[in-house]
Amino acid sequence: MHPSSQLIAHTPERQLAITVDHQARGRLVTGWLRRADLPLNTRCGQRGLCDGCLIELVAGTLLHADSGQTVDASAGPQTLQACQYCPIPETGAVIHVPARSLLAHRPQVVTSFRVDVSRAHDPLWQTVEIPAAEFAEADDPIAAVCEAVQHRRGGRTIGQGQSVDASEPAPQPQSLTMEFAQEVNPVIEAGDGLAEFLARTEPVARFALDQRGDRWCVLPNDDDEQPSYGVAIDVGTTTVVVMLVDLDNGRILNTSAALNGQARLGDNVLTRINLCMQKPELVERLQHAVARRTIQPLLAELLTESRVSLDQVKCMAIAGNTTMLHLLAGVDPTPLGTAPFTPVFIEHRVLPGRSLGLLPKPPGRSQAALSTGHRTIREADRCNPTVHLLPAAAAYLGADVIAGVFSTGMAYRDHPCLLVDVGTNGEIVLKHGNRFLGCATAAGPAFEGAGLTSGVRAGQGAVSHIRLDLDTADPEIEVIGDTSPIGICGTAYVDFIAEARQCGLIGPTGRFSDRFTGHPRLVQHANGRGFEIAKPANEKTVVITEGDIASLLQAKAAIAAGIVCLLRRAALNAEDLATLYLAGGFGFHMNVASVLRCGLLPGFRQEQIELVGNSSLAGAFLAMMDSGVLAEMKHIASQLETVELNLEPDFESIYIDQLGLG
Ligand code: FES
Repeated sequence: MHPSSQLIAHTPERQLAITVDHQARGRLVTGWLRRADLPLNTRCGQRGLCDGCLIELVAGTLLHADSGQTVDASAGPQTLQACQYCPIPETGAVIHVPARSLLAHRPQVVTSFRVDVSRAHDPLWQTVEIPAAEFAEADDPIAAVCEAVQHRRGGRTIGQGQSVDASEPAPQPQSLTMEFAQEVNPVIEAGDGLAEFLARTEPVARFALDQRGDRWCVLPNDDDEQPSYGVAIDVGTTTVVVMLVDLDNGRILNTSAALNGQARLGDNVLTRINLCMQKPELVERLQHAVARRTIQPLLAELLTESRVSLDQVKCMAIAGNTTMLHLLAGVDPTPLGTAPFTPVFIEHRVLPGRSLGLLPKPPGRSQAALSTGHRTIREADRCNPTVHLLPAAAAYLGADVIAGVFSTGMAYRDHPCLLVDVGTNGEIVLKHGNRFLGCATAAGPAFEGAGLTSGVRAGQGAVSHIRLDLDTADPEIEVIGDTSPIGICGTAYVDFIAEARQCGLIGPTGRFSDRFTGHPRLVQHANGRGFEIAKPANEKTVVITEGDIASLLQAKAAIAAGIVCLLRRAALNAEDLATLYLAGGFGFHMNVASVLRCGLLPGFRQEQIELVGNSSLAGAFLAMMDSGVLAEMKHIASQLETVELNLEPDFESIYIDQLGLG
C-alpha cells in the first residue's frame, strides 16, 4: 500500500496509521480518528467553535471541508481544528494529536456524597412473605393478597414524618394493585395461576413489590432467596456515575463513572439541544450515546466486578438535568432551547429498563432458561428492572437540583440556606421559611476549562491547584495523576484568580498589573497577555491569558449575581444564612478559600460552606432506598418558585458589579 494514502497520527502514547479510503473522501479527520478508536474532545459538536479538537499537521496535506482550500506543512507545523479538515487520499498526512485533544482522558468524577437527611428502609423493589393459609378461604385471592400486603406495609413513616410545608397535606399512601398479565412474569407466563402459586409455595408465599409511580405492583416471586440490587445513576452533562446498591440493607457495593458519551457531539446542553433542532434524527443518536454507550458498559463493569447477575437488578433511580433526562428517555429536548423553555416532561417517570437500552446482555447466559413452570423463559426477558426518572421543577431546575435539595436536608432546615451547583449552568436554590426560590445562571463552560487557552476537563494531567508566591508570583502547581501538565481545569483557574489578585499580579478588572511588567512568565500570546504556568517538554506551554481571566470573571459574575438576586428577593444577606451547600464535582475539589477570595460566593464566610459532593447521585440513592422520598421530591419540585434572572430588574447591574475582583 502506498504510504501517501495514510493518515498517520502520533499521540503521546502511540502511533497510528489509518488507511484513507478513496470512497470515504470527505470524512473529517475527527471521523477517521474516532473510527480508529481515538476520539477527540469534540466539545462544540464539530462546529469549529472550540479548540477541543486541535491537532498539528506536521507533514502532508489536509483539505478544508467547507472552503476546499488545502493546507500543508511545508512552511512548518500547522495547528488546525481536526473537525474542519479531511485527509486527501492522494497525499496522506502526518498529524500530532496532543493529549488534551483526546477524549480518552480518564475523567475525575465525584462519586462520593454526603447525605444529611434521614430515610426509611423502604426500597422501590422489595419482597414480602405472607403465610399462604391467609388466603386459603378467600373468594378473591388477588384482593386478599393486596389486603395482606397493604396490612404489612401499614404504619411506615415518610422522611421522619416531616413534610416540607406543614400547611400542605402530607403525601398519601399509594394504592396497591396486582398486575399479572401485562408484563413478563415468570410465574404467570409459565402458565401458573395465583392459586397454583399459593398452593405450590405453601406454607409461605413470597411476593415482590415493585413501585410503579402511582401504584405498587405485587408480583408472585419464585426466586430463591438470592439478594436483590438496585442501581442509582447520576446523568450529568459531562460525566455519568452508576452505583450498585444492595436493596436489602442499602450497602453500596461499587461505583463506576465515565464521560457522558454525548460529549463527543457537544459539551453543553445547549449545543446538544441545537443539534436536535437542526437534525431531529440526532435525538436517537444522543439517546444511544448515553444509554448504550455509557450507562450499559458501566453497569456491565459493576455487575462483573461485584459478581452480581443482571436478573438480580430489580430497579433503577436516575437523576440528571432536564435535558439529560429528556435525551435518556429519547424525548426531543428542542422546546428547552427556545422561550418559553417548556419541558416535555418534568414529572417522575417510570419506564421499563429494557426499553431504554440500559441493560447489558447477561454474559454468556442470555439463552439460559428458567426452570420455573412449564414454559421456557429466557433470562434476558426476565431482566427488566423498573426505571425511575426523578422529578424536576423546570427546564433549568432539573431532577439533579431537586435531588440535591432533598439529600442535603436543606428542605427540612429551619434556618435559611442555599444550594449552589457550579457547572455550565450554575443552579442555585434558596430555602427560606417555607419558600424555595431557584434560578439557573448561564455561567458558560469556562469553569470546565472550555474555551480557555489551556483549559481542560479535570482528569489525568490537568493542573488542579495553583499557588503563587506572594512576592514573586512564581507558581507552584498540583497536577492530577502527578504527571506532566497538559492543561488547566476549573479548580486551578479559581485558585489562580484568587492568588493573582492577592499578590497583585492582576488588578480589580482582571488585567495584569504594570508592577509585573518584565516578569519572565508574562508573555505576549495570541489571546492577549498571558502568564505561563508550566512549560512541559512535549506539550504546549500551559498559560493563562487576560482573555481567559475575562471569561472566568464572566462565569463567576453570572453565579454570584444569581446568588445576590435570590437573596434580595428574600430580603436576606449572606450572613443571614446558616449554610451554603456547594454541590457537584467542581465544588467538591475546590479550595474554598480561593472560591471566597475570588468572589464566587459573595459575602459568605468559610464556616458557612459545606461541600456535599455529588448531591444528585445522593438523591437518586435515597429515592431508590426509600419510596417515600419520591413523594417528598415531587413536593419540593412543586413548591420551587423559578426566578427568571433575565426578568429581574437589577440583574444586569448586579452582574456588572460582580465582574470585578474586590
Ligand atoms: S472546533 Fe472541533 S470540535 Fe469544536
